[in-house]
Amino acid sequence: MIRIDKVMLAAAVSCAALAGAARADGTVEVLHWWTSGGEAKAVGELKKAFEAEGGTWVDSPIAGGGGDAAMTALRARVMAGNPPTAVQLKGPGIQEWAEQGALNNVQDVAEAGNWDKVLPPALASIMKYEGKYVAAPVNIHRVDWIWGSPEALKKAGVEAMPTTWEEFNAAADKLEAAGLIALAHGGQPWQDATLFETVVLGVGGADFYRKALVELDDAALRSDTMVASFDQLRKLRGYVDPNFSGRDWNLATGMVMRGEAGFQIMGDWAKGEFLAAGKVPGEDFLCAPTPGKGFILNSDSFTFFKVSGDDNIKGQKVLARLIMSPEFQKVFNMAKGSIPARTDVPLDDFDSCAKRSHEDLLAAIENDTLVPSMAHEMAVPRSVRGEFLDLVTQFFNSDMSSQDATTRLADAVQRAM
Ligand code: GAL
Repeated sequence: MIRIDKVMLAAAVSCAALAGAARADGTVEVLHWWTSGGEAKAVGELKKAFEAEGGTWVDSPIAGGGGDAAMTALRARVMAGNPPTAVQLKGPGIQEWAEQGALNNVQDVAEAGNWDKVLPPALASIMKYEGKYVAAPVNIHRVDWIWGSPEALKKAGVEAMPTTWEEFNAAADKLEAAGLIALAHGGQPWQDATLFETVVLGVGGADFYRKALVELDDAALRSDTMVASFDQLRKLRGYVDPNFSGRDWNLATGMVMRGEAGFQIMGDWAKGEFLAAGKVPGEDFLCAPTPGKGFILNSDSFTFFKVSGDDNIKGQKVLARLIMSPEFQKVFNMAKGSIPARTDVPLDDFDSCAKRSHEDLLAAIENDTLVPSMAHEMAVPRSVRGEFLDLVTQFFNSDMSSQDATTRLADAVQRAM
């Protein structure tokens, strides 16, 4: 009897120790949409780092590029009074949730880690609500990229990546003449909007982009420049293969990888796919900015929802600290295709596309041509973004004229404001 008591006591003590250890190192349930090859590899680095500190990671992936499905799931969880501890969220969405009182802040972690000193001020302000950090940024993605297949381009006699939309169209015509798909694309609203915003930047320039897609200036939205942007989008629609509808973005990347298609226009998470497949930039695939001067910014970040319990709060703080550690920012971004959000992480080990991204980012800051992504929720409230996505997708999937699209878009944005 005594022996059994001792055994039971020992078991109870060791259980308590284990539970204590788990509590001490925190638990996080992380809601995210990183399910493609490159994305999963990148988020796996965060899980690894968190678990290495003894934390418990509960993974809640919601598949669907661009995160629209994840955001729907998030709303349902919050409505049910059961928010996840950490959520991949960005741009104005952070402020929207903070205004509703849904977020915890991690200001103590931010102060201890000097976040104000190591983040670009424009990014830091997106992460703060009422002067306190409620989010931690993991990266800087660039949206305005063209990915090219050297093999397909060679077959079609295209010598270089295009630098103007005229050159793009001419190269696309050659690819088609060679029996190849010119533009690998997935017909999903956020992907259509991704094409659209790169075209708006290319056709109208950064000032026009800002007026139309950020400030929602009515005159810009109704201008001839917007009509010309829709004209180029119509051209792009013509270069897409018949099976584009509903295709996931990473499958489109696969078409470029296999040399079936010449180009994909997509943010540099596409590079994460090439890298995860062991492909080398400059050899197996090419990267070049889409035509036009500027840099469309998309930064991923994690927010910390209002949860209770020491274990969860501890988890949020540990996660925030890890996300902003230079070591994590390096390994994560080398897998994700992006560059670090921190300005003090050396890029020596990064590939040539990442280095180009960094150079162009600095130049864009200098020339005031850095613009936030509308399609990727960095620029306007979700309700307004929804109007853009609906209209652009309708245009893409019908024979709507550019003039009609321009007027309907401006009307829709006005209604949503
Ligand atoms: C973006 C997100 C990226 C990315 C992409 C496709 O909105 O910022 O990290 O992975 O969606 O899912």
